[in-house]
Amino acid sequence: MSDPQLVLAARVQAAIVDAYGVEYAHTDPVIRPSQFADLQANVALPLAKKLGERPRDVADEIVKRLDVAGLCSAVEVSGPGFINLTLADEWIAGQATPMVGDPRVGVPVTDRPQVVPVDYSAPNVAKEMHVGHLRTTVVGDAFCRAAEFRGHHVIRQNHIGDWGTPFGMLIEHLLEIGEEEAAAELRTDPNVFYQAARAKFDASEKGEGHGDFATRARRRVVLLQSGDQATLTIWRRMVDMSKVYFNKIYAELDVTLADADLAGESKYNDMLGAVCDDLYEQGIAVVDDGALCVFLEGHIGREGKPVPLIIRKSDGGYGYATTDLAALRYRAQTLHADRVVYVIGVPQALHLKMVYETVEKAGWLGRTQPFHAGIGNVLGTDGKILRTRSGKPIKLAQLLEEAVERAAKVIEDRGYDAATQAEIAQAVGIGAVKYADLSVARDSEYVFDFDRMIALTGNTGPYLQYAAARIRSIFRLAGSSPEAVDSPIVITHPAERALALHLLGFGAAIDAMIEDVAPHKLAAYLYGVADALTGFYENCPVVKGPDGPVPAEVREPRLALCALALNTLVTGLGLLGITVPERM
Ligand code: ARG
Repeated sequence: MSDPQLVLAARVQAAIVDAYGVEYAHTDPVIRPSQFADLQANVALPLAKKLGERPRDVADEIVKRLDVAGLCSAVEVSGPGFINLTLADEWIAGQATPMVGDPRVGVPVTDRPQVVPVDYSAPNVAKEMHVGHLRTTVVGDAFCRAAEFRGHHVIRQNHIGDWGTPFGMLIEHLLEIGEEEAAAELRTDPNVFYQAARAKFDASEKGEGHGDFATRARRRVVLLQSGDQATLTIWRRMVDMSKVYFNKIYAELDVTLADADLAGESKYNDMLGAVCDDLYEQGIAVVDDGALCVFLEGHIGREGKPVPLIIRKSDGGYGYATTDLAALRYRAQTLHADRVVYVIGVPQALHLKMVYETVEKAGWLGRTQPFHAGIGNVLGTDGKILRTRSGKPIKLAQLLEEAVERAAKVIEDRGYDAATQAEIAQAVGIGAVKYADLSVARDSEYVFDFDRMIALTGNTGPYLQYAAARIRSIFRLAGSSPEAVDSPIVITHPAERALALHLLGFGAAIDAMIEDVAPHKLAAYLYGVADALTGFYENCPVVKGPDGPVPAEVREPRLALCALALNTLVTGLGLLGITVPERM
């Protein structure tokens, strides 16, 4: 990778070894952005302390041995011992040029690929997906794309809620209304189905109608759990009906989840008994009040009582936690995960922590590292949990529809034919919703605000899509295309330099995103590209300048820089799951 920070770090490290010996090979060179140069190495200060010398002397010693020929145009020691490093224009241009037409934009495939199951999306069968599911889906999808791009082996695990006690009442309800009606509801409006089942159950419990529905529902749960074939068949059909609904949303959202990625709660059903027995035999789980529980050190609730992780209820039923224990064990031992990423709500942090600790204590985790990528709540513009104007929970399908409609209005007067207009509106509307989710830290609460996310200015999806579309229009104006570029990038102006230098940081931005499961880091980087482009356009005419057409020897290198910026924006937005329309 041509990330200047990494390249300079390696050179400074080599100089340190040269000056002080191999025992200093792993010294952090402390490369930071600099006010006076491109970057500065601050290592002399901590190193001098260790050596018992003066920081300035250490800095001088490092600089004397620093080999930056062809890489830096200036190296200077300043202040108490900072080493200011200015990159050579030729080096920046030379690194950027081969990235122009490269489908990987200069970002190599990692030489240390990891196996990474990613637990995300996870809607529930026979229930509506909500904005929380939207956020984990969009964040998880972006992470998967970026990690795959770097060459990691990503295993998507859509941990759908497809098992448990509610399925007794859901199956009984389905039998009563018939498959056809059930399918119609589950595919479009699953909450109607769910709530009707729940209402019947509750009424029957209170003796207020629907006869023995509750008793039948309970019996049905037992049949389901004991593997009764007829019951399993109905259950499977119900899951299939819900899949149609999930897939419709996924298609609309343009995310990479497919049926093959479904790994719902039911998948672990056969493993739950063994998980409980194992934990019991190891003395990690104990019977408390009839329930099998795990008590972990440091988890003390109110009144000083230890908080249990309940893994088998007193009626013998397993719960959400048991499934997660089995799932983590499976991911560690069967999938051989290096890292398991959970893209799940922040409120589930304690639950997950207890699951990790239990699996670790049982010796099932091995070298697998679980990582909770916590997702913050989505709020309405009133600062409360997002609802429709009438106070009902928002339906995701409607929300996405509205986004596309609003996007269509924004581009209404551009004179496109209906088909092109619809295509752009789709990309812009969905892109806006996704980018709004991705551009804020995933664990912060975020306010869902259509007006802000669809705006063509500011840190929005449409703004970045527009930045890319604008480059394409420059190529059309020049009678050229990004693919036709064959000039090297040349730096003649500070604005060109700033843009080219920023473009070299693409790989580092992707890695930062993968490391912390933080799509907002890549989003911020891409916003920086758009920003640098603005400075470039202001100062560096590409096709036509104030004094007429730009001569070919200036135009062609600038077109090369434009092509690289476009490649970076399109590839980067692609990793976030956002498509860029040809025109906007
Ligand atoms: N289905 C759950 C919900 O809708 C989320 C499951 C998250 N994944 C997990 N492994 N616990 O809230």
